[in-house]
Amino acid sequence: MVKVNLGGCSSFVKESDYKLYLGKALDAFDVLESETGAGNDFLGWKTLPIDTPESLIAECEAVRDDWKSQGIDLAVVIGIGGSYLGARCAIEALSHQFISPEGAIKVVFAGNNLSEEYLAELMDLVKQRNAACVVISKSGTTTEPAVAFRIVKEYLEKKYGKEAAANRIVAITDAHKGALKTLATQEGYRSFVVPDNVGGRFSVLTPVGLLPIVLAGFDVRTMLKGAADEREALLSKTEENPAVQYAAMRNLLYSVLGKKVEVLVSYNPKFQYLGEWWKQLYGESEGKEGKGIFPASVNFTTDLHSMGQFIQDGDRVMFETVVNVEKSRREVVIGSDPQNLDQLNYLAGKRVEHCNAMAQLGTKLAHIDGGVPQLEVSVSQIDEYNLGAIFYFFEFACGISAYVLGINPFNQPGVEAYKKNMFALLRKPGYEAQTEEILKRI
Ligand code: PA5
Repeated sequence: MVKVNLGGCSSFVKESDYKLYLGKALDAFDVLESETGAGNDFLGWKTLPIDTPESLIAECEAVRDDWKSQGIDLAVVIGIGGSYLGARCAIEALSHQFISPEGAIKVVFAGNNLSEEYLAELMDLVKQRNAACVVISKSGTTTEPAVAFRIVKEYLEKKYGKEAAANRIVAITDAHKGALKTLATQEGYRSFVVPDNVGGRFSVLTPVGLLPIVLAGFDVRTMLKGAADEREALLSKTEENPAVQYAAMRNLLYSVLGKKVEVLVSYNPKFQYLGEWWKQLYGESEGKEGKGIFPASVNFTTDLHSMGQFIQDGDRVMFETVVNVEKSRREVVIGSDPQNLDQLNYLAGKRVEHCNAMAQLGTKLAHIDGGVPQLEVSVSQIDEYNLGAIFYFFEFACGISAYVLGINPFNQPGVEAYKKNMFALLRKPGYEAQTEEILKRI
């Protein structure tokens, strides 16, 4: 289960303020639980860990088994934002960082940018391998994945013929509407549904996350079990509820101490994409109406040699939330060297993880001395179970936290602004008036 430690904030905050914000977070907990807050038609994610039918997991496994039986060894997962970050986070965390297991389907991601070089290099790989594709878009109209899909689809159809290509394509989209839904129905693609009441950034435990994670060879039943157990643990309305504590403290640091930036810190590169997923979850949920904590992320000790300087010594705008992993699943012991030219014999016999833990502790003390409050969110190890738990924890805490801030966590009005300009500049039909206007500005 996810644990929260607020000890690294105690020298910064007054007990009375913490009590006040705990009260606000408990009220927000009620709003989330009674489903009476803004955006309450997007709360389907809350029960996914206990609602997901076995048949859905079996369907995901059927795609994997079918593709493997055809010798398919590459799945291009096309999507952007909430339609890829959860899956990418899980796959990066669970995969061996250097070696792909024999016989596994390699999962790569596309449609999350408009870089021509990215797409060209992706196609270099697709042409070398026996490829299939999962295209994910809830709205079914997002430009970045649509462009990537058009290119991958065209290649698959040329190489295998239209009918066989259709068997190598799975669509995950709305049950009824959108261009992708129309295309999938017309072309006869296998399809999965993104539930109406689950927004993109809360969708990792729907087929949006589950199918790519299954294709990559991981156990989503255990992930859902971790999320279900975490849900159970967060259901109690108490001051000890870790999601309530996290939401209370981050709002206090923001509103009372003016800490406008939250830096999610990990000491394990496997969690780099946890930072990306979390940034979207909190940034897109809370950054509205001129309010919100700016979510940033770093990977230590790597970034201690770059961003560490700013965090220690720059403008005091931030607090840190450290994702603490209690146990490394692998052991590497530092050896002894008779010559000791590198002067490292004082570490002989110690595990590398011990050095990492001491770096973590030393950094915590230094950053607190430097004026950076520190929250800690702990899991026992990096595996499917704990990933399910941490996904659920951050989603639930996000709902509470945004309600404390007085924000609807489940909409994203701000993401439309760039799209309108881009469509006008690309001369998309229907945007003629905006095109005229925008051309005057540049
Ligand atoms: O969280 C969100 O709603 C967004 O990040 C979406 O996931 C993202 O914009 C992709 O949208 P779609 O799945 O409709 O292509």
